[in-house]
Amino acid sequence: MKKELLYSGKAKDIFATDEEGVILAQYKDQATAFNGVKKEQISGKGRLNNLISSLIFEHLKDKGIRTHFIKQVSETEQLNEQVSIIPLEVVLRNVTAGSFSKRFGVEEGIELESPIVEFYYKNDELDDPFINDEHVAFLGIASAEEVAFLKEETRRINEVLKELFSEIGLRLIDFKLEFGRTKDGSIILADEISPDTSRLWDKDGQHMDKDVFRRGLGDLRDVYEVVLARLKERG
Ligand code: TMP
Ligand code: ASP
Repeated sequence: MKKELLYSGKAKDIFATDEEGVILAQYKDQATAFNGVKKEQISGKGRLNNLISSLIFEHLKDKGIRTHFIKQVSETEQLNEQVSIIPLEVVLRNVTAGSFSKRFGVEEGIELESPIVEFYYKNDELDDPFINDEHVAFLGIASAEEVAFLKEETRRINEVLKELFSEIGLRLIDFKLEFGRTKDGSIILADEISPDTSRLWDKDGQHMDKDVFRRGLGDLRDVYEVVLARLKERG
């Protein structure tokens, strides 16, 4: 049973439950971009991301990746193992786009010879700055061994996700992951994986992700519905 609100984020509310060590994530009908500067209520978005994220976590589990996902409990809610979130946004890029293209002055859509992993310090007040391994150590966020694990695990997850999306006709351009520490100190995948946290391009290069909202290209629900339908169809 859902109990007190533990944390309210931009895309999800996190509640305690009757069960020790289990939290309930309620996905919101809210879209934000540019650290909340652009914000809109979009009815149905919470459902879409909860359902998509649940299917992806299930698939990762089948492929032997440990995640915080326990089960989907309603259209907008899922149960997750409680973890202590490591304040890093771990981004993996297969293809140039977004802030990478801006930062390095390269056009979008260039396939990288090998995927690039980046870290951002998850801190809204500082606007999630781009940081490297040495900054991670300085800030005491994670040990060198943990950083090595985060990179390796992110690359492993990339292989699984790339194949999954390719099976439904989508090109995985980049994505963002968050990890958490369990009580016993192991690090597992947490947060969500959805078109909010990844870039997915259709065969013709059409944006099938939150760039539709960030760039004002249309109604994100239309493309999220397609992503969900294709994932469901795949079974
Ligand atoms: P970026 O190109 O803006 O750095 O984004 C890289 C990937 O990370 C992209 O798939 C979107 C995702 N992302 C988030 O999930 N949350 C964020 O706050 C940002 C900035 C990006
Ligand atoms: N997470 C960002 C925000 O805080 C949105 C984005 O994905 O660009 O608004």
